[in-house]
Amino acid sequence: MRVIVFGAHGQLGSDLIRECRKRGHNILALRREKLDIADAAAVLEIIERYQPHWAINAAAYNKVDLAETEPEAAMRINAVAVQGIAAACAETGAALLHYSTDHVFRGDKKTPYTEQDRPQPPSAYAISKLAGELFARAYCEKQYVVRVAGVFGPAGRYTNHGNFPELILRKADERTAIRIVKDFVATPTYGPALAARSIDLLEKKIPYGLYHLGGGEEISWHDYALKIAEAAGKEADISAVTHREYPTAAKRPRYAALSNAKIEAQGILPMPALADCLAEYMDLRKRERPRRH
Ligand SMILES: NC(=O)c1ccc[n+]([C@@H]2O[C@H](COP(=O)([O-])OP(=O)(O)OC[C@H]3O[C@@H](n4cnc5c(N)ncnc54)[C@H](OP(=O)(O)O)[C@@H]3O)[C@@H](O)[C@H]2O)c1
Repeated sequence: MRVIVFGAHGQLGSDLIRECRKRGHNILALRREKLDIADAAAVLEIIERYQPHWAINAAAYNKVDLAETEPEAAMRINAVAVQGIAAACAETGAALLHYSTDHVFRGDKKTPYTEQDRPQPPSAYAISKLAGELFARAYCEKQYVVRVAGVFGPAGRYTNHGNFPELILRKADERTAIRIVKDFVATPTYGPALAARSIDLLEKKIPYGLYHLGGGEEISWHDYALKIAEAAGKEADISAVTHREYPTAAKRPRYAALSNAKIEAQGILPMPALADCLAEYMDLRKRERPRRH
């Protein structure tokens, strides 16, 4: 298949490109310097020229706290740009795969969020991501909107945004005391496993629509930090705090576990155990250098 990947230099974009190459698909990998997804005319031009079977949007504005003070930037990239990509896909017949976030939920449930649960985004970032979902669904019939959570992939070692494991490992190396919230729970999602299941979704032509694809194992951010240090074999001074002791500019959902039941019912494999993902992550980050797409 011909595949366009937007956000090719992000951590998920890197995993998607690796997975597509492994499966023999033809890829046009577009990083920010080559194409700004907010430039709708350029997006349409490239999609018309390349005529992809699939367009995958892994580009995003992910600065959750900063979005509180620059909501326009978040809206431009996470929402309005998705309108342009979705419209261009509809125009050319490409199927669109777009990613969203567990942050669209308020976080007051006690069991994993399903696709039936009502989003109540608690922050400017979450509002922009929910608006992006709506644009994708409104402007393109052939679309998958996949909500993920706390993505970590080996490219996070080099990307501008980084990821949570890299933050913990850096602080451990600096021997800095690390305070992490114990009362917030999520399902951290391993990028390579997410990429493989994303391409399965497209190859198997499962019905279009909204899907959750979180890590499959819910865990508090504090316990996750402990697991990261353990998997890396590093000593780290990690202590548990409550969200009241660790205020942030943006509100986050306290409980944001995603249920993968709907996507698994369509034949997509369950996500691997978090411990296995972290073990593979530590192995890959030792071996891999950043790829120039
Ligand atoms: N990371 C997480 O914890 C997390 C959690 C939930 C959902 N998600 C979603 O999962 C998807 C993949 O995230 P990720 O972790 O791979 O994020 P990432 O590592 O931050 O990658 C995002 C990429 O998008 C690029 N980008 C930003 N603005 C752009 C623009 N205007 N035009 C073209 N490219 C642009 C970034 O380039 P620059 O680096 O140059 O800005 C970066 O390479 C996104 O939809 C994200 O919202 C991520």
